[in-house]
Amino acid sequence: MKIGICPGSFDPITYGHLDIIRRASQMFDKVIVLVLINPKKNYTFSMTEREEMARKVTAGIPNVEVDHYDGLLANYAQNIGAAAIVKGLRAMSDFEYEFQMALINRKLNKELETVFLPSSEENTYISSSVVKQIADFGGDISGFIPKEILSDVIKVFNK
Ligand code: PNS
Repeated sequence: MKIGICPGSFDPITYGHLDIIRRASQMFDKVIVLVLINPKKNYTFSMTEREEMARKVTAGIPNVEVDHYDGLLANYAQNIGAAAIVKGLRAMSDFEYEFQMALINRKLNKELETVFLPSSEENTYISSSVVKQIADFGGDISGFIPKEILSDVIKVFNK
């Protein structure tokens, strides 16, 4: 069975992430949406909340599962025998960092490929941090965040 991993912070998961996850689910027998820790980020949502939101929005995709891990992505991939990591690229500005990560992950786990999918045009400008900024200023984020988790996200900024 070919397993793909869609890794990320998902703080929170957006339509942009969901688009990549859906497309990955067509390419692999099973896709694991893996909620991880990016040490460079200060999170708004806890690991459990990020995982729960990812679970809610992917519930309708039969071959997608959600998991979390507080270690190295390459080790998780090795433990479950994953074939590839799938990452979305929004613009060339994403590429340098993602390329470095792909090379590091393959150095750590020689079997592990990284597949890059170009984001859909309508999602190129979406990022979790921009969405949070809009929500923080009371703006409408319904075009960026799946409806299943909209209230979970909005309530954090309505305090
Ligand atoms: O959504 P993000 O924050 O861009 O995702 C980055 C993430 C979480 C995939 C990356 O930071 C990660 O893989 N974290 C786990 C630790 C790890 O394996 N780091 C790569 C080697 S330095």
